[in-house]
Amino acid sequence: MDFDFDTPVDRRNTGSIKWDKYRARDVLPMWVADMDFRAPPAVLRALRERVEHGIFGYTAAPDDVVDAVVAMCAERFDWHIERDWLLWFPGLNSALTATCRAIGEDGDEALVLPPVYPPFLLAAPRSRRRNVVSPLVLDGQRWVMDFEHMQATVSARTRLLLFCNPHNPVGRVYDERELLQVAEFCERNDLVLCSDDVHCDLVLDPAARYRPLARLVPEVAARTITLLGVGKTYNLAGLHCGYAIVPDPGLRERLQAAMSGVVAYINPLSYAATRTAYRECAAWREALLDYLRGNCAAVRAAVDACPGLRITPIEATYLAWIDARALPVDDPAAFFEHAGVGLSDGRDFGFPGYLRLNFGCPRVQLDAALRRMVEAVAALRHAGARPGNGTGGETGY
Ligand SMILES: Cc1ncc(COP(=O)(O)O)c(C=O)c1O
Repeated sequence: MDFDFDTPVDRRNTGSIKWDKYRARDVLPMWVADMDFRAPPAVLRALRERVEHGIFGYTAAPDDVVDAVVAMCAERFDWHIERDWLLWFPGLNSALTATCRAIGEDGDEALVLPPVYPPFLLAAPRSRRRNVVSPLVLDGQRWVMDFEHMQATVSARTRLLLFCNPHNPVGRVYDERELLQVAEFCERNDLVLCSDDVHCDLVLDPAARYRPLARLVPEVAARTITLLGVGKTYNLAGLHCGYAIVPDPGLRERLQAAMSGVVAYINPLSYAATRTAYRECAAWREALLDYLRGNCAAVRAAVDACPGLRITPIEATYLAWIDARALPVDDPAAFFEHAGVGLSDGRDFGFPGYLRLNFGCPRVQLDAALRRMVEAVAALRHAGARPGNGTGGETGY
């Protein structure tokens, strides 16, 4: 079956956060992580059917939705979860914060590994906890965790590791050896492991394989909160459908207590979308991944044509993490915005001088944005600036 990812959909006047940021300006929005594709046809059909039912009362997870999640984990990851391990969240941002509130006491610490999706850096400070920070490092072409630095960073008050796999924004799918090291690190330091795996269905590199840590290392399952949801892969972020898989009853109870009265129930449309995405949209997802692989190649070609920009291989996600420190400008995000391309500023991820580009959009839009970027960098060179004179600052922390 053919799916159309090519035809642009006009998102103006729909309240889109992504598009409204540049409402009155000729700036292509390539920032926040939602895609400019319509959701899978089967999901649209399921939503219409649910709307036709006409009643939208308070809704707990219907049995067949729980069945769909349990079956998905078993079929895709050979991970056999129990039905009552699931806690539902209206988006995973709230799950990150609730997790910080559930673990430890006021003043305790959460370990974060920037560059990382900005709410990871905000969740502990929003919860009367503190961050301790161990940046990823570049090992040749791969961003990796620095376990020695992580060990030197944690203290007796560190209770939690906020882990992201695949890692937004660097696009890594951590391999088995790395995951075993994470498990061992959490055991050694008695940390709860919150593994945000929301991008797990977006693996682009055929050589990479996503593995849920709690499945790979059953001994750490009791200290693990795994966050998943259909928001990213099926482009349903505005429906706010996420969930946590928490095998340990004590940990689950603490998380539930932290949610209580604060985190809203998720809505009946989100449940309908989740069920259908898992049950009926495998072909759509494969077609999406193919399309994204093409877009990813276009991004790489454009970055290669821009002296001063660099990227590492993107194993997963529709996000490119671009090192712009060698570009001879003071503020790379402002520079490209001025050239008509709205990117995420690495500063928000803990890494100034970097940019994140969302390539989950029709090829014509991506090509237009990349053309603007290439031309803006070429114009810089013609104006006499040389790569290497730019921000060149320290990476993050
Ligand atoms: C790693 C990660 N976690 C969570 C979220 C946000 O999830 P939600 O929209 O479900 O709150 C994102 C969004 O980009 C993300 O990249």
